[in-house]
Amino acid sequence: MDISRIPTGIPGLDAMLKGGLIPGRVYLVKGAPGTGKTTLAVHFAIAGVANGENALYVTLEEPAENLKTDMRLLGFDLNDPHFTLIDATPTAERYVLISDFFEEFASNIEKMADAIKRQFQERRYTRIVIDPITMLKLTATKEMDYRRAFLSFIKTMMRLRTTVLLTSEMERTDIEEYLVNGVIELKTFSMNGRLSRGIRITKFRGSAFDDAIRPYEITERGIVVHKDRVLTLP
Ligand SMILES: Nc1ncnc2c1ncn2[C@@H]1O[C@H](COP(=O)(O)OP(=O)(O)OP(=O)(O)O)[C@@H](O)[C@H]1O
Ligand SMILES: [Mg+2]
Repeated sequence: MDISRIPTGIPGLDAMLKGGLIPGRVYLVKGAPGTGKTTLAVHFAIAGVANGENALYVTLEEPAENLKTDMRLLGFDLNDPHFTLIDATPTAERYVLISDFFEEFASNIEKMADAIKRQFQERRYTRIVIDPITMLKLTATKEMDYRRAFLSFIKTMMRLRTTVLLTSEMERTDIEEYLVNGVIELKTFSMNGRLSRGIRITKFRGSAFDDAIRPYEITERGIVVHKDRVLTLP
Protein backbone atom coordinates (compact mmCIF):
# COMPACT_ATOMS: atom_id res chain seq x y z
CA MET A 1 0.00 0.00 0.00
CA ASP A 2 1.10 3.51 -0.83
CA ILE A 3 1.97 5.15 2.50
CA SER A 4 1.06 8.56 1.14
CA ARG A 5 -2.57 7.44 0.84
CA ILE A 6 -5.23 6.89 3.46
CA PRO A 7 -7.55 3.94 2.74
CA THR A 8 -11.30 4.52 2.92
CA GLY A 9 -11.99 1.03 4.21
CA ILE A 10 -13.76 0.15 0.95
CA PRO A 11 -11.26 -1.70 -1.28
CA GLY A 12 -13.12 -1.01 -4.54
CA LEU A 13 -13.28 2.71 -3.77
CA ASP A 14 -9.59 2.79 -2.84
CA ALA A 15 -8.82 1.29 -6.24
CA MET A 16 -10.87 4.06 -7.89
CA LEU A 17 -8.87 6.59 -5.84
CA LYS A 18 -5.57 5.01 -6.94
CA GLY A 19 -4.79 3.86 -3.42
CA GLY A 20 -6.95 6.03 -1.20
CA LEU A 21 -7.39 9.62 -0.10
CA ILE A 22 -4.47 12.02 0.29
CA PRO A 23 -3.98 12.58 4.04
CA GLY A 24 -4.53 15.94 5.69
CA ARG A 25 -7.22 17.07 3.27
CA VAL A 26 -10.96 17.61 3.22
CA TYR A 27 -13.32 15.48 1.11
CA LEU A 28 -17.03 15.54 0.34
CA VAL A 29 -19.34 12.56 -0.08
CA LYS A 30 -22.58 13.64 -1.68
CA GLY A 31 -25.76 11.78 -2.43
CA ALA A 32 -29.52 11.67 -2.03
CA PRO A 33 -31.14 10.24 1.13
CA GLY A 34 -30.42 6.55 1.66
CA THR A 35 -27.58 6.30 -0.85
CA GLY A 36 -25.08 5.20 1.83
CA LYS A 37 -23.22 8.38 2.79
CA THR A 38 -23.24 7.54 6.48
CA THR A 39 -22.20 3.95 5.81
CA LEU A 40 -19.29 5.13 3.65
CA ALA A 41 -18.26 7.64 6.32
CA VAL A 42 -18.33 4.94 9.02
CA HIS A 43 -16.19 2.66 6.83
CA PHE A 44 -13.64 5.48 6.60
CA ALA A 45 -13.62 6.20 10.35
CA ILE A 46 -13.49 2.52 11.37
CA ALA A 47 -10.69 1.76 8.90
CA GLY A 48 -8.63 4.24 10.92
CA VAL A 49 -9.64 2.68 14.23
CA ALA A 50 -8.72 -0.78 12.90
CA ASN A 51 -5.32 0.69 12.10
CA GLY A 52 -4.81 1.97 15.66
CA GLU A 53 -5.72 5.58 14.77
CA ASN A 54 -8.25 7.80 16.53
CA ALA A 55 -11.41 8.81 14.68
CA LEU A 56 -13.82 11.61 15.55
CA TYR A 57 -17.38 11.32 14.22
CA VAL A 58 -19.84 14.20 14.54
CA THR A 59 -23.41 13.18 13.77
CA LEU A 60 -25.80 16.07 13.09
CA GLU A 61 -28.95 14.28 11.93
CA GLU A 62 -28.98 10.66 13.04
CA PRO A 63 -28.97 10.30 16.84
CA ALA A 64 -25.86 8.53 18.16
CA GLU A 65 -27.82 5.60 19.57
CA ASN A 66 -29.56 4.89 16.24
CA LEU A 67 -26.28 5.16 14.42
CA LYS A 68 -24.62 2.69 16.79
CA THR A 69 -27.47 0.20 16.38
CA ASP A 70 -27.62 0.49 12.59
CA MET A 71 -23.87 0.24 12.17
CA ARG A 72 -23.58 -2.73 14.52
CA LEU A 73 -25.79 -4.65 12.04
CA LEU A 74 -23.12 -4.01 9.42
CA GLY A 75 -20.36 -5.19 11.77
CA PHE A 76 -19.05 -1.80 12.90
CA ASP A 77 -18.41 -1.27 16.61
CA LEU A 78 -18.88 2.41 17.37
CA ASN A 79 -18.16 1.80 21.06
CA ASP A 80 -14.48 1.27 20.34
CA PRO A 81 -12.39 3.53 22.62
CA HIS A 82 -10.55 4.89 19.57
CA PHE A 83 -13.85 6.02 18.07
CA THR A 84 -15.23 9.28 19.49
CA LEU A 85 -18.87 9.85 18.60
CA ILE A 86 -20.33 13.31 19.14
CA ASP A 87 -24.08 13.64 18.97
CA ALA A 88 -24.92 17.11 17.76
CA THR A 89 -28.44 16.27 16.65
CA PRO A 90 -31.14 18.69 17.70
CA THR A 91 -33.30 17.21 20.43
CA ALA A 92 -35.56 18.61 23.08
CA GLU A 93 -33.74 16.55 25.67
CA ARG A 94 -30.29 17.55 24.64
CA TYR A 95 -29.35 18.89 28.04
CA VAL A 96 -29.94 15.46 29.47
CA LEU A 97 -28.60 13.31 26.71
CA ILE A 98 -25.96 15.29 24.92
CA SER A 99 -22.51 16.47 25.88
CA ASP A 100 -21.81 20.19 26.41
CA PHE A 101 -20.43 20.34 22.92
CA PHE A 102 -23.80 20.42 21.26
CA GLU A 103 -23.95 24.17 20.73
CA GLU A 104 -20.44 24.49 19.43
CA PHE A 105 -20.67 21.60 17.02
CA ALA A 106 -24.09 22.35 15.67
CA SER A 107 -24.41 26.11 15.40
CA ASN A 108 -22.03 27.02 12.61
CA ILE A 109 -18.89 25.98 10.84
CA GLU A 110 -16.55 28.35 12.73
CA LYS A 111 -17.69 26.98 16.06
CA MET A 112 -17.39 23.46 14.67
CA ALA A 113 -13.73 24.13 13.85
CA ASP A 114 -13.11 25.51 17.35
CA ALA A 115 -14.84 22.55 18.97
CA ILE A 116 -12.74 20.13 16.91
CA LYS A 117 -9.55 21.98 17.89
CA ARG A 118 -10.56 21.61 21.53
CA GLN A 119 -11.04 17.86 21.01
CA PHE A 120 -7.43 17.71 19.85
CA GLN A 121 -6.33 18.81 23.31
CA GLU A 122 -7.54 15.42 24.53
CA ARG A 123 -6.07 13.33 21.72
CA ARG A 124 -4.94 13.57 18.12
CA TYR A 125 -7.39 12.42 15.49
CA THR A 126 -6.21 11.35 12.05
CA ARG A 127 -9.75 10.97 10.70
CA ILE A 128 -12.78 13.19 11.18
CA VAL A 129 -16.32 12.82 9.83
CA ILE A 130 -19.02 15.49 9.83
CA ASP A 131 -22.30 13.88 8.85
CA PRO A 132 -23.91 15.85 7.27
CA ILE A 133 -22.45 19.30 6.67
CA THR A 134 -25.83 20.38 5.27
CA MET A 135 -27.12 21.28 8.73
CA LEU A 136 -24.34 23.80 9.33
CA LYS A 137 -24.92 25.47 6.04
CA LEU A 138 -28.51 26.20 6.95
CA THR A 139 -27.32 28.38 9.81
CA ALA A 140 -25.28 30.62 7.48
CA THR A 141 -27.13 33.71 6.39
CA LYS A 142 -24.80 35.10 3.75
CA GLU A 143 -23.23 32.95 1.03
CA MET A 144 -20.00 34.98 1.11
CA ASP A 145 -19.62 34.51 4.87
CA TYR A 146 -20.22 30.79 4.53
CA ARG A 147 -17.63 30.51 1.78
CA ARG A 148 -15.05 32.34 3.88
CA ALA A 149 -15.86 30.26 6.96
CA PHE A 150 -15.73 27.04 4.96
CA LEU A 151 -12.30 27.90 3.55
CA SER A 152 -11.04 28.79 7.00
CA PHE A 153 -12.42 25.44 8.25
CA ILE A 154 -10.42 23.61 5.56
CA LYS A 155 -7.25 25.48 6.57
CA THR A 156 -7.77 24.65 10.23
CA MET A 157 -8.19 20.96 9.40
CA MET A 158 -5.03 21.01 7.27
CA ARG A 159 -3.13 22.60 10.15
CA LEU A 160 -4.38 19.84 12.45
CA ARG A 161 -3.03 17.32 9.88
CA THR A 162 -6.23 15.36 9.87
CA THR A 163 -8.21 13.86 6.98
CA VAL A 164 -11.83 15.00 6.94
CA LEU A 165 -14.84 13.48 5.27
CA LEU A 166 -17.95 15.63 5.01
CA THR A 167 -21.28 14.29 3.81
CA SER A 168 -23.81 16.37 1.95
CA GLU A 169 -27.34 15.86 0.70
CA MET A 170 -27.16 18.63 -1.87
CA GLU A 171 -28.15 17.43 -5.31
CA ARG A 172 -26.79 20.36 -7.28
CA THR A 173 -23.23 21.59 -7.38
CA ASP A 174 -22.57 23.79 -4.42
CA ILE A 175 -19.73 25.91 -3.11
CA GLU A 176 -18.36 23.11 -0.92
CA GLU A 177 -17.61 21.14 -4.07
CA TYR A 178 -15.34 23.87 -5.38
CA LEU A 179 -13.52 24.27 -2.09
CA VAL A 180 -12.88 20.69 -0.97
CA ASN A 181 -10.03 18.54 -2.26
CA GLY A 182 -12.19 15.78 -3.63
CA VAL A 183 -15.78 14.74 -4.23
CA ILE A 184 -17.30 11.24 -4.21
CA GLU A 185 -20.84 10.98 -5.51
CA LEU A 186 -23.37 8.25 -4.67
CA LYS A 187 -26.35 7.91 -6.96
CA THR A 188 -29.31 5.62 -7.38
CA PHE A 189 -30.85 4.84 -10.74
CA SER A 190 -34.05 3.06 -11.55
CA MET A 191 -33.41 0.37 -14.16
CA ASN A 192 -36.01 -2.16 -15.34
CA GLY A 193 -38.03 -1.50 -12.25
CA ARG A 194 -35.06 -2.13 -9.94
CA LEU A 195 -32.84 0.22 -8.01
CA SER A 196 -29.21 0.34 -9.12
CA ARG A 197 -26.52 2.13 -7.19
CA GLY A 198 -23.56 3.87 -8.79
CA ILE A 199 -20.51 5.56 -7.29
CA ARG A 200 -18.20 7.99 -9.04
CA ILE A 201 -15.41 10.38 -8.24
CA THR A 202 -16.00 13.81 -9.74
CA LYS A 203 -12.93 15.55 -8.36
CA PHE A 204 -9.67 14.52 -6.68
CA ARG A 205 -7.00 17.21 -6.43
CA GLY A 206 -3.44 16.00 -6.68
CA SER A 207 -4.26 12.57 -8.03
CA ALA A 208 -5.39 10.60 -11.05
CA PHE A 209 -8.65 8.74 -10.50
CA ASP A 210 -11.04 6.31 -12.13
CA ASP A 211 -13.77 8.48 -13.64
CA ALA A 212 -16.23 5.67 -14.48
CA ILE A 213 -19.50 5.17 -12.64
CA ARG A 214 -18.99 1.87 -10.80
CA PRO A 215 -21.81 -0.20 -9.36
CA TYR A 216 -21.92 -0.55 -5.58
CA GLU A 217 -24.08 -2.47 -3.15
CA ILE A 218 -24.93 -2.06 0.50
CA THR A 219 -24.57 -5.50 2.04
CA GLU A 220 -24.56 -6.91 5.58
CA ARG A 221 -20.81 -6.12 5.60
CA GLY A 222 -21.29 -2.55 4.42
CA ILE A 223 -20.52 -0.99 1.04
CA VAL A 224 -19.03 -3.09 -1.73
CA VAL A 225 -17.79 -1.28 -4.84
CA HIS A 226 -17.38 -3.34 -8.02
CA LYS A 227 -14.31 -1.64 -9.40
CA ASP A 228 -14.15 -3.78 -12.53
CA ARG A 229 -17.73 -3.23 -13.60
CA VAL A 230 -19.24 -0.18 -15.22
CA LEU A 231 -22.76 0.91 -14.43
CA THR A 232 -24.44 0.94 -17.81
CA LEU A 233 -27.48 3.11 -17.95
CA PRO A 234 -30.32 2.43 -20.37
N1 LIG B 1 -27.79 -5.20 5.38
C1 LIG B 1 -28.18 -4.35 4.45
N2 LIG B 1 -28.42 -4.80 3.22
C2 LIG B 1 -28.82 -3.97 2.25
N3 LIG B 1 -29.00 -2.63 2.42
C3 LIG B 1 -28.78 -2.15 3.64
C4 LIG B 1 -28.34 -2.96 4.72
N4 LIG B 1 -28.20 -2.18 5.80
C5 LIG B 1 -28.52 -0.94 5.40
N5 LIG B 1 -28.87 -0.91 4.12
C6 LIG B 1 -29.32 0.25 3.32
O1 LIG B 1 -28.41 1.31 3.47
C7 LIG B 1 -29.09 2.54 3.32
C8 LIG B 1 -28.73 3.50 4.42
O2 LIG B 1 -27.49 3.98 4.18
P1 LIG B 1 -27.03 5.30 4.91
O3 LIG B 1 -27.74 5.56 6.17
O4 LIG B 1 -25.56 5.18 4.95
O5 LIG B 1 -27.48 6.36 3.83
P2 LIG B 1 -27.37 7.94 3.89
O6 LIG B 1 -27.00 8.37 2.50
O7 LIG B 1 -26.48 8.35 4.99
O8 LIG B 1 -28.86 8.35 4.17
P3 LIG B 1 -29.43 9.70 4.81
O9 LIG B 1 -29.37 10.73 3.72
O10 LIG B 1 -30.81 9.35 5.18
O11 LIG B 1 -28.56 10.05 5.97
C9 LIG B 1 -30.54 2.27 3.43
O12 LIG B 1 -31.15 2.52 2.19
C10 LIG B 1 -30.60 0.82 3.84
O13 LIG B 1 -31.68 0.20 3.28
MG1 LIG C 1 -26.78 9.55 6.66
